[in-house]
Amino acid sequence: MSYPINITLLGATGSIGTNTIDVMLRHPTQFQAYALVAHRNVDLMLELAQKVKPQVVVMTDEVAYQSLKGNLPSGIRLECGMDAAEAVSAAADVDMVMAAMVGSAGLPATLAAVHAGKRVGLANKECLVTAGRIFMRAAKESGAEVVPVDSEHAAVHQALAGHDRDSVTRIILTASGGPFRDRDPASLKHISVAEAVAHPNWSMGAKISIDSATMMNKALELIEAKWLFDASADQLSAIIHPQSIVHAMVEYCDGSVLAQLAMPDMRSPIVYAMQAEPRLESGIPWLELAQTQPLEFQAIDEKRFPSMALVKDVLAGEDSLAIALNAANEVANQAFQDGKIGFMDIVDTVARVLEKTVNQPVATLEEVWQLDAESRRITEEIIIP
Ligand SMILES: NC(=O)c1ccc[n+]([C@@H]2O[C@H](COP(=O)([O-])OP(=O)(O)OC[C@H]3O[C@@H](n4cnc5c(N)ncnc54)[C@H](OP(=O)(O)O)[C@@H]3O)[C@@H](O)[C@H]2O)c1
Repeated sequence: MSYPINITLLGATGSIGTNTIDVMLRHPTQFQAYALVAHRNVDLMLELAQKVKPQVVVMTDEVAYQSLKGNLPSGIRLECGMDAAEAVSAAADVDMVMAAMVGSAGLPATLAAVHAGKRVGLANKECLVTAGRIFMRAAKESGAEVVPVDSEHAAVHQALAGHDRDSVTRIILTASGGPFRDRDPASLKHISVAEAVAHPNWSMGAKISIDSATMMNKALELIEAKWLFDASADQLSAIIHPQSIVHAMVEYCDGSVLAQLAMPDMRSPIVYAMQAEPRLESGIPWLELAQTQPLEFQAIDEKRFPSMALVKDVLAGEDSLAIALNAANEVANQAFQDGKIGFMDIVDTVARVLEKTVNQPVATLEEVWQLDAESRRITEEIIIP
């Protein structure tokens, strides 16, 4: 790979996006922005574009595009819409795409990068949850390298490196347990959005923070791991680890377990996805084990976190279940943020949508979108009968 590595950043204005820019600015000779892509946040996009001076800025929202028009520094091309996001992901000048949009909205542009054979840093887990089979097949065909950015999957990636894949017996993702790990489930009925978003260890976007509180994030991550590491349902598990220092473990048939440890800061997996060898400084604090709290682990209580019971059926089932789980969760998560349903209704709603979903294989992107739309419709009906 020759330097600088030219990057398209999908979801530039988000939590992963801004952390990626932090890493890029630390290593200006290694990384250069080709394109920044976001949806609506015009003010932040303007600030970021002034900092990293990409060749192209894309706002997928038309109103945001219009209000940014004429305000970017000279020499930066402004484009609008999801088609433009796909184009800058597949552009010949691009070496790597950081996929950090939130939700299944990120799928078309990320898939465009995969089809074009780019190196893809994958934060947008919903891509694999909704279209894992299609996505991984496309990567195999084009030769695109998909490197996980989710901290747990980046940890698994590192613990698998250089080892015989057939010797793996278990992949164990850790979960902080979110802000309500020790709360009496009966007290969760009237949780506010602010309480659900306040994650104890990680600073993240609203959707994923709420997903962490419901543990739906871990459910999505287990499905993501199934596709990334070609793992079967019985090879995948999760365990609560409140300190978020051990990010994942891989167990081998000789009983040896390899873990990856780091302070909880997304710049560590981000920099690893951007360049694994030689390693680059990430800016995260050093891990001083003698000064951290003891590292604890506990089994996940499925009564407290019913999302973990739901995902077992999804992992063992066909692709339609994962699409429905993701779509229903996106709608229910947003409905909670909009004050339409309570915190405990999120997973309950997803469970009701899954009950109405036919367990069937899904072979094409058209079928994915059809099922996604149908699941969203059913979820809306449940939320507002
Ligand atoms: N944050 C973390 O620590 C973390 C860790 C692991 C994995 N992830 C995953 O990384 C992804 C991003 O998470 P995040 O926390 O960075 O999210 P976030 O802070 O909410 O940012 C989301 C980004 O996506 C853009 N976006 C939203 N809707 C869009 C649409 N319809 N079309 C195009 N762009 C859209 C947003 O643009 P505007 O802001 O301009 O509207 C923003 O740039 C998610 O899939 C999440 O699960 C995040």
